[in-house]
Amino acid sequence: MLAIETSCDETAVAILRGNGKLLASEVASQVTLHQAYGGVVPEVASRHHLTQLRPLIDFALSRAEVELKEIDAFAATSGPGLATSLMIGASAAKGLALSLRKPFLAINHIEGHLLSPFFGCEIVPCIALVVSGGHTLLVEIESFANYRLLGQTRDDAAGEAFDKVGKLLQLPYPGGPEIDRRARDGDPMRFDFPRSMLHSGDFNFSFSGLKTSVRYLLPKLDRDCTNDVCASFQEAVVDVLVSKTMAAAKSHGKRLVTVSGGVSCNSRLREKFKAACAENGIELLIAEPKLCTDNAAMIAFVAAQKFARGESSPLSADIDPNLRLVA
Ligand code: KG4
Ligand code: ZN
Repeated sequence: MLAIETSCDETAVAILRGNGKLLASEVASQVTLHQAYGGVVPEVASRHHLTQLRPLIDFALSRAEVELKEIDAFAATSGPGLATSLMIGASAAKGLALSLRKPFLAINHIEGHLLSPFFGCEIVPCIALVVSGGHTLLVEIESFANYRLLGQTRDDAAGEAFDKVGKLLQLPYPGGPEIDRRARDGDPMRFDFPRSMLHSGDFNFSFSGLKTSVRYLLPKLDRDCTNDVCASFQEAVVDVLVSKTMAAAKSHGKRLVTVSGGVSCNSRLREKFKAACAENGIELLIAEPKLCTDNAAMIAFVAAQKFARGESSPLSADIDPNLRLVA
């Protein structure tokens, strides 16, 4: 399986043998290009996907020591994401499939993140938290393609909140990893930020109020407290994510929790999930960091599940920037 991921600002290509033998997983990050703008500029992203993708496919094939004619199927992320970015990867995969007379598979980016903790393994029932720059979802997984959405964010995604607070603090883009680093030298109890919807009785989230609290606090500070703001903000996000996920596991009788998406790289999130799961006798599965942020290996993994079931997508299948995990 050769899979392409271009939903946002990472150009990624992976080659997978069977269900879990990853022969290559290459990511050409554009982060330094977008840093000057403090966020992703769609036009800049798509132009770079266009120039990076061909050489990256060649590089992945040479890394995998596989020839193009040996590939059995081609997959690409078809949504959600930026339309102008999605269409570059999807068009390339369709072109390859058409010219080599091989199947094409259109893959949902959120499903890629969702199943990444199971990479190379059997997909078993669990409560899955997906936390990325664009999404915050709590999902009940029964088996492959059998998902139930329990809750999601009402406004900003968790990663988006990290990035916006990073911007308020004038930290380099993306704010998430930088806040994680700064928080290690900060006091998580210094500022008592709101834990929105913690007791809402459902599995939805809201992070925009938290971001606003940070915004109103900053002008009142008379000296640099960046590390303490980072630690206290991060603690508030992590508290809500861990608490709601554990509540979902308990109420749905699941003994396994998975966490995926870029924010699952966060060191405090990992630490607190580990402690909460150990305390409640629940197993925890979080992918290694390079499978958490955007990559094509997770897209190849979902495609391999579908391919094994004899599924493929028509070449007329269009991209969908607003594609949902569950209809
Ligand atoms: O999954 P991902 O690579 O792309 C999307 O699908 O959005 O996630 C990117 C997000 C960004 O918001 C980034 O700031 C956040 O993941 N992120 C982190 C960390 N590493 C990446 N957030 C908090 N702590 C981190 N260590
Ligand atoms: Zn993503």
